[in-house]
Amino acid sequence: MTPPAATGPLIDGFGRVHTDLRISITDRCNFRCTYCMPTEGMQWLPRPELLTYEEIERIARVAVTELGITSIRITGGEPTVRSHLPVLVAKLARLGVDVALTTNGATLASQAADLAAAGLHRVNISLDTLQPDRFAAITRRDDLERVLAGVDAAVAAGLQPVKLNAVIVRGVNDDEIEALAAYGREVGAEVRFIEFMPLDGDGTWDVEAVVPAAEIVARLDAAFGLAPAEARGHEPAARRHYADGRGAVGVIASVTDAFCDRCDRIRLTAEGRLRSCLFALDEVDLRRVVRDDAADAASTDAAIAAAIRGAVADKWAGHHIAQPVFVRPSRSMSQIGG
Ligand code: 5AD
Ligand code: SF4
Repeated sequence: MTPPAATGPLIDGFGRVHTDLRISITDRCNFRCTYCMPTEGMQWLPRPELLTYEEIERIARVAVTELGITSIRITGGEPTVRSHLPVLVAKLARLGVDVALTTNGATLASQAADLAAAGLHRVNISLDTLQPDRFAAITRRDDLERVLAGVDAAVAAGLQPVKLNAVIVRGVNDDEIEALAAYGREVGAEVRFIEFMPLDGDGTWDVEAVVPAAEIVARLDAAFGLAPAEARGHEPAARRHYADGRGAVGVIASVTDAFCDRCDRIRLTAEGRLRSCLFALDEVDLRRVVRDDAADAASTDAAIAAAIRGAVADKWAGHHIAQPVFVRPSRSMSQIGG
């Protein structure tokens, strides 16, 4: 293997340039979505294991100034359960990059305005159903009203484009594809339908539970009429505008049409491990590097940059979900960061 270049963009062995950094700031969550966590028995990271906001800022600064990262997304767990989130948003916004947040929306009604004021640009809110009972069954919390209020607050705060993430699971919510799309059009948010991936906390994922993106697109086209597909960039979502011009919808075919060959993402877990793929089996410990007291500031920054370059250089071509060789990562979504 050739060693990674010491300067220039973050490029891997397949020529993919990485510009998007996703930072998980907690593994905790106020929900227990069935496709993500078990009901009980999650082992939370002890507080000292988490990167501090200062450590996160430092890694992000190196990633932006030395490695060409241009967008940062804050994830979890549920990032809004960590205190003083606007403080972190302000630190990251000062780096001059696009700053986004993925959230379950439950506390956005009270937090959206503060987050926008701190410099947050946009949000993705998880919303898998519009039925209160079903919402309670999927998230194991009776909070649909709060989430819908959170969506309104995000739109009102100008955190646009507000995107709604809907994980579609066969037999669970696949009868709501049209209703969710209609709701998105009504409130001015872009729904992104996501194929169910084998990252659930209970390990019950089955290929039969995946609703293929092609089926979702066909149903939306029948119900609303879709304009022809746009050329795709690095976004995993294939975007389609509605034929009547009222909004757009995205479909993320992570299982049936993996977008690995265009992937531009790296991920940092809450305890400071760098992962080059959601499904990676290896991680690089950046926390050890930032907490190395023996090193001076300049050499720590250089070591952070080198560690990130090394992890990206080793990145694999892609995952193999739904193929016999697929090895499930030992972490679930909430422990990696969505
Ligand atoms: N499959 C697909 N998407 C998932 N998410 C969580 N678990 C899964 C899974 N098993 C998504 C949710 C949430 C984001 C953080 O991750 O849609 O919006
Ligand atoms: Fe929490 Fe998001 Fe996982 Fe649901 S999907 S349990 S909201 S981290």
